[in-house]
Amino acid sequence: MKESDKIKIAVLGAGNLGMAIIKGLHESSLNERLQIVATKRKLPDTLPGSLKNVLFSTDNVVAVQNSDVVIVCVQPGQLPKIAGQIKAFIKDQIVISTITGLTLKDLHHHLGDETRIVRAMPNTAIAVGQSMTCLSSESDAQSVKVAEDIFSCLGKTLLIDDDLMRAATVLGASGIAFWLRLIRATTQGGIQMGFDADEAKFIAVQTSLGAASILAQNAEAHPEREIDKVTTPMGCTIRGLNEMEHKGLSSALIRGLSASYEMISNIKKSVDS
Ligand SMILES: NC(=O)c1ccc[n+]([C@@H]2O[C@H](COP(=O)([O-])OP(=O)(O)OC[C@H]3O[C@@H](n4cnc5c(N)ncnc54)[C@H](OP(=O)(O)O)[C@@H]3O)[C@@H](O)[C@H]2O)c1
Repeated sequence: MKESDKIKIAVLGAGNLGMAIIKGLHESSLNERLQIVATKRKLPDTLPGSLKNVLFSTDNVVAVQNSDVVIVCVQPGQLPKIAGQIKAFIKDQIVISTITGLTLKDLHHHLGDETRIVRAMPNTAIAVGQSMTCLSSESDAQSVKVAEDIFSCLGKTLLIDDDLMRAATVLGASGIAFWLRLIRATTQGGIQMGFDADEAKFIAVQTSLGAASILAQNAEAHPEREIDKVTTPMGCTIRGLNEMEHKGLSSALIRGLSASYEMISNIKKSVDS
């Protein structure tokens, strides 16, 4: 995309993720260049004040006809109906699908082999410009570039093989919930030690941000080496950390990820059947 180009985006399915993407786009450096149409089956009675220049509609076809990029954010079972409506109206538009469990092959089956498709797996931190968005595509490099340009304004992107998308869904998209639970649990620990809830949350949030930033700002940094810097021999940190491991912290996290991964494979099967 040239810096001067207007970007006409249709978001089909303005639910949790669709709205998070729209909010993120509005806060991003792309905002001035955007023209967004967002569709839902039922339109909201009132719109968030800051989103007044987003056009909401129930008409997927008109939205697609007036866009260069179509971001599809519906549940897997909702795609066949939408695909039936829009397929004939997709010309040069790039279709970006966030739909869990539908592979590039599935998407081309519904939308046509010639359609330029990019799969994207963002997370809800996209609303605050901090998404981790994994992308996969078998279409032309220009389509991938457009998707990268959009999602890199909303956080970080990584181009991956489509076979890894289920893992990306668990680690990156569901991952938001896993990290929020960790922050909530450490907040509860803080409350037990005497902080009020707001103070405990404030400390837990900033500390988790700090831990992530140590790794994010230095590609050479490794979690175990950073842990070693904090754990004084016979000190309170190693005592607490070892107690957490005796109770299965790492194991619980890995098993949780594996359970989500197993489940996501079944979602795919239920779409097929
Ligand atoms: N939420 C996440 O963190 C996340 C992250 C990555 C990927 N995903 C994937 O992204 C997709 C959307 O997730 P979500 O959490 O945003 O789901 P959601 O909250 O259920 O949103 C789906 C939206 O699609 C709309 N919709 C359904 N049929 C439609 C149609 N025929 N025309 C226009 N709009 C239609 C619904 O509209 P109504 O409200 O009017 O029914 C709803 O607003 C899913 O496949 C999900 O797995 C989600």
